[in-house]
Amino acid sequence: MQTLKKQLLTLGAESAIYIVEYWGKTLALKWRPIKPYLHNEIDKLLRTSRTSRECKMLTFVRTLGVPTPAVHFVDISHHLIIMDFIEGQQLKQLVGVSSKKRIASLCHEFGKLLGIMHLSDVVHGDPTTSNVVVDTQSKMWLVDFGLAEKNATIEMKGVDIHLLRHTYETTHWDLQETMLESTMDGYIEVSGDAAEPVLARADEIRERGRYH
Ligand SMILES: Nc1ncnc2c1ncn2[C@@H]1O[C@H](COP(=O)(O)OP(=O)(O)OP(=O)(O)O)[C@@H](O)[C@H]1O
Ligand SMILES: [Mg+2]
Repeated sequence: MQTLKKQLLTLGAESAIYIVEYWGKTLALKWRPIKPYLHNEIDKLLRTSRTSRECKMLTFVRTLGVPTPAVHFVDISHHLIIMDFIEGQQLKQLVGVSSKKRIASLCHEFGKLLGIMHLSDVVHGDPTTSNVVVDTQSKMWLVDFGLAEKNATIEMKGVDIHLLRHTYETTHWDLQETMLESTMDGYIEVSGDAAEPVLARADEIRERGRYH
């Protein structure tokens, strides 16, 4: 890692993303650094399990038809993954600079991708607009799979929808209705009857939250 020529792209809550030149390609390196405020062993366990999970799930969901960066290299003990670098912008950054029509169409696509995952009992775990990258050809990619899970229950899918709705309400409040409606249209289009219990559970989760 020290020997790689790298340029910092973002420093997130959990990780640092670098752009690296490797094997003659431009790739992204995601590294989960130590969190000094956590107990050492717990921190190590979390960083290891999230790195391993992210690597597996990035690859698994692609087989379902959800675009994710291809993983080229993983070093679990150093908590790093090298994957394709997607040149583009976060959906979060596009809101505010793109037309309402374009955002609606991107959200529709986001809903479809979530629907595809949920139909196969996979949850993303952190379905926010920062974890959606739209490339220069307008193709949508999902990233950040450290909290993703297989064999998801209705409750877990409901939490995914609840988190997404929460992001729209808190980060994109001025466009939240359009964004939510378009996302749900895409989600229902893919999920059919399977959507109903998940959306009902997401409402229940929201209600539970109100009384806590
Ligand atoms: N392979 C990639 N290609 C292009 N951009 C990427 C790639 N992976 C991550 N990013 C960008 O870096 C940001 C942070 O990465 P990621 O979400 O995986 O880490 P994180 O630790 O969860 O960060 P945060 O706490 O900010 O969500 C993403 O929101 C995305 O904009
Ligand atoms: Mg993220």
